[in-house]
Amino acid sequence: MDSVIERRLSSDVPLVGQVSRYIVAAGGKRLRPALLLLMSGALGCTSEQRLNLAAVVEFIHTATLLHDDVVDESTLRRGRATANEAFGNPASVLVGDFLYSRAFQMMVQAQNMRVMEVLAEATNVIAEGEVHQLMNMHDASISEAEYLRVIRSKTAKLFEASARLAAILAQASPALEAACADYGQALGTAFQVIDDVLDYDGDVVEMGKNLGDDLREGKVTLPLIVAMQRGSYSQRALIEQAVQEGDSAQMGQILAIVQETGALDLTRSRAAQEAQRAIDALSLLPPSPYREALHSLAAQLLDRRA
Ligand code: IPE
Ligand code: IPE
Ligand code: MG
Ligand code: MG
Repeated sequence: MDSVIERRLSSDVPLVGQVSRYIVAAGGKRLRPALLLLMSGALGCTSEQRLNLAAVVEFIHTATLLHDDVVDESTLRRGRATANEAFGNPASVLVGDFLYSRAFQMMVQAQNMRVMEVLAEATNVIAEGEVHQLMNMHDASISEAEYLRVIRSKTAKLFEASARLAAILAQASPALEAACADYGQALGTAFQVIDDVLDYDGDVVEMGKNLGDDLREGKVTLPLIVAMQRGSYSQRALIEQAVQEGDSAQMGQILAIVQETGALDLTRSRAAQEAQRAIDALSLLPPSPYREALHSLAAQLLDRRA
């Protein structure tokens, strides 16, 4: 898969390769391709296309990161300066477009209409989710349901697509395909919920990105929603003001409220519920080392630090 990525990054325009290799070479966990490949293994699929499509989902993911870091004005990603910090916003946005469109060129090679349908839908829903989240900025009244809707779109959709693509390549039954998709959706949701915990409770070196960015942006995630529900009137007022103003000057106090109200624990338990839903979805798959790995992935997600 990595050699497919390397080969498909080629371009006659030097800046394209420079920016895209800069972010790709920084690593990243390669979770979405791992999901697609493990699910392919669990379904006994050895099609060459699985490597191509694994690279496609990583390209789409990387494109979303290039754009997301511009929108979020982030300066650190994968332990190094973001592409927008190193090369500027225009290069990040345009190379993000290059990666999206390269992914489209690659997915056509699978010569499978359903594959294209799933990826076209996922790409569109991710973009919609990011816009939805943008509309919600600085709004302290966001509900848990609204938060869930956003993360199912911006993050879980690509996990769902990765798992579903494996089922499509394996020509799995509709019921099995639905179970794979459910696994991906639940895993992706749990993944983002934990990511939002780590924005308050993680380590900058382990995460490779700056913490506290969500509050700084006025982005309301589940830890804050719970803290506002459970906090006293004055605690809630403090958080609301910080969200409305995108002001992280009170970060220390807000962190204390988030801890004290048990908001991080409750948020982690929500992630655990989603991880369990992912594990339950695996029961339709035949036992194999691949299925075991998918089980471990969901179980270990809750303890991730990076
Ligand atoms: C980052 O995704 C964006 C989120 C959905 C939180 P990852 O944490 O999978 O990013 P990399 O690819 O490992 O850097
Ligand atoms: C993840 O959103 C980006 C996408 C899924 C498109 P975030 O903005 O929460 O992710 P980080 O914290 O920048 O990695
Ligand atoms: Mg971001
Ligand atoms: Mg984040």
